[in-house]
Amino acid sequence: MTSPLILGLESSCDDTAAALLRGRDILSSVVLGQNQLHAAYGGVVPEIAARAHAERLDVAVKQALDEAQVSLDSVDAIAVTSGPGLIGGVLSGVMMAKGLSIGLRKPLIGVNHLAGHALTPRLTDDLPYPYLMLLVSGGHSQFLLVRGPQDFTRLGGTIDDAPGEAFDKTARLLGLPQPGGPSVEAHAKKGDETRFRFPRPLLDRPGCDLSFSGLKTALLRMRDQIIAEKGGLTEQDRDDLCAGFQAAVRDVLKKKTARAIALYLDESPAFPALAVAGGVAANQELRGALEALCDEHGLKFTAPPLHLCTDNAAMIAYAGSELFAHGITHDMSLSARPRWPLDSKAAPLVGSGKKGAKA
Ligand code: KG4
Ligand code: ZN
Repeated sequence: MTSPLILGLESSCDDTAAALLRGRDILSSVVLGQNQLHAAYGGVVPEIAARAHAERLDVAVKQALDEAQVSLDSVDAIAVTSGPGLIGGVLSGVMMAKGLSIGLRKPLIGVNHLAGHALTPRLTDDLPYPYLMLLVSGGHSQFLLVRGPQDFTRLGGTIDDAPGEAFDKTARLLGLPQPGGPSVEAHAKKGDETRFRFPRPLLDRPGCDLSFSGLKTALLRMRDQIIAEKGGLTEQDRDDLCAGFQAAVRDVLKKKTARAIALYLDESPAFPALAVAGGVAANQELRGALEALCDEHGLKFTAPPLHLCTDNAAMIAYAGSELFAHGITHDMSLSARPRWPLDSKAAPLVGSGKKGAKA
């Protein structure tokens, strides 16, 4: 029996995306970014994002159908991000999906955006449940124990900035180009991580919660002190500040991941695995530290390719396909949820991340 053809839609932040998926085959995955629309404002403007989604969702769907060379009639179900995210964007996607569902008389499936990220290692690597997931991007930062398409336990998350956000702010403070992650990493490679002593936030507290905003404050103080003493920053100062900052992020994430691994191994998983996703997972220093940690504890380490780690609709279609296989569909009462924690039993996280509170 062939797997159903799923159309996925994603519009919860600043990417308008549509994808067609059959089983684990991504027939097409279109992502229309909005960077230029928001560039002048230094962040995503929700009203501009919502309007752009409303104008472009049909373009993305058409392009996805063309690239996959399938007709709209052959779609078996429509999966859409119905939260969490910026409400105007989520609404645009949900309304589009409802229209398609009525018009085509095909089932509608509401998908949690974070579940899309968290299930991506199953799409790419067929990772068996339960596995441990570390989501680290510009807008997300959390440890998840993934047991099923609707069964997540959040072991911890950031109480303020997401790590990618901290990299971006660091770059801004040092006059380096955006996005900050790659530029800070490039400078850090040339720097001495021991010259500046950055704090290791929340390591003294039990549990897996994270905090990154203090690193930026520490960096600001160090930078201003150098400027006050020497009148400016040399290339070496920049390199050393980047190296010290990156080492702090690496150490904190490594130690907290070790704690999350201990909690996960308590469940005696048959195939122990850690998956990392999100833009920050591209960081070589962090990857190296996490891979070493997995070797030490006998876990498989996986990181989906970057284009599937960042926001896309293939992950939404995939998460939808798992729900569909469990007989889960939604009717026209499906609502857009700006906040929708994956783990409803976990206490709400205080932090938000630059792209809006998502957990
Ligand atoms: O997942 P993503 O593309 O977008 C969302 O946040 O939704 O993540 C982007 C973030 C940015 O903050 C960027 O600075 C960071 O990932 N990033 C990195 C690296 N490459 C991208 N951070 C550290 N090291 C990198 N090599
Ligand atoms: Zn996302």
